[in-house]
Amino acid sequence: MATAADFNDRMLSLGLARVAEQAAIAASDLVGRGDEKAADQAAVNAMREQLNRLDIAGRVVIGEGERDEAPMLFIGEEVGTGNGPAVDIALDPLEGTTLTAKDMPGALTVIAMGPRGSMLHAPDVYMEKLAVGPGYPEGVVTLDMAPAERVRALAAARGCATADITVCILERPRHAGMIADVRATGAAIRLITDGDVAGVMHCAEAEITGIDMYMGTGGAPEGVLAAAALRCMGGQILGRLVFHDDDERERAARAGITDLNRVYALGDMVREDVIFAATGVTDGSLLPGIRRRPGWVETETVLMRSRTGSVRRVSYRSPLR
Ligand code: FBP
Repeated sequence: MATAADFNDRMLSLGLARVAEQAAIAASDLVGRGDEKAADQAAVNAMREQLNRLDIAGRVVIGEGERDEAPMLFIGEEVGTGNGPAVDIALDPLEGTTLTAKDMPGALTVIAMGPRGSMLHAPDVYMEKLAVGPGYPEGVVTLDMAPAERVRALAAARGCATADITVCILERPRHAGMIADVRATGAAIRLITDGDVAGVMHCAEAEITGIDMYMGTGGAPEGVLAAAALRCMGGQILGRLVFHDDDERERAARAGITDLNRVYALGDMVREDVIFAATGVTDGSLLPGIRRRPGWVETETVLMRSRTGSVRRVSYRSPLR
């Protein structure tokens, strides 16, 4: 088996960008068509085709779901030519299926890759998440703190008033109490309708995005992808899986998870150096969406390597044939 030393992140990163780009181009045909499934399927097909061209022995650890419910890019699926390093892949071919179907801002394609065993095999359940950007002491905020307490702790660490803190939260009925608690501190809230991978990533560039902290419950797969992004960009993320029924608990057992209440820190979700790519489908706060012009199509991708902390913005123009 290949070791972390065989994971040639420098060479593989451009291949990873290609995977994200082609998935975004494929999904963009379905922007505004009101069909979430078709948009997701288009992205899945393109991502799989591109992955199978890469010289890797790839295994999907975060994917479209389990084998019986996802015909392609299911958890455990082998991808790549098989001639290359053994790698684990976390992917969300279309992060923001609803955003795409409704032509709303912020839809992305997202993928991360690392050496075999580098990423948590999170089941497709929900996860409580809490993230801040770089520069804070480890554990400055915790999942056990009440939302208002987190705001006060972050403001104290930053040396500012609670009113100067902005928190990003997914707009969901389940977050009503959290939103009220944060508002009571005087902090501002950036509500998003979908797309918490970008919500977490925004914390890593607080001076640009104005977002200091992300909190709330969303998909566990997106939690691991967000952790991969923060490993490259800096910052902290904590996650705790949320289970609603025995079926979800069984999924966790199948993924090898025994402690259902465990709090995962960034290093527990992403244990080794990884590469990460995301391409914009619709215009958003992280990336512009696909641009179609007479004769060509253009994409923008954020491409990162945690080993170096390098963050590239790659723009790609492809002639339409
Ligand atoms: P999809 O594109 O898979 O629909 O995910 C979008 C998303 O907003 C994620 O960013 C987030 O983690 C999750 O959905 C939240 O789940 P729910 O919509 O069920 O609250």
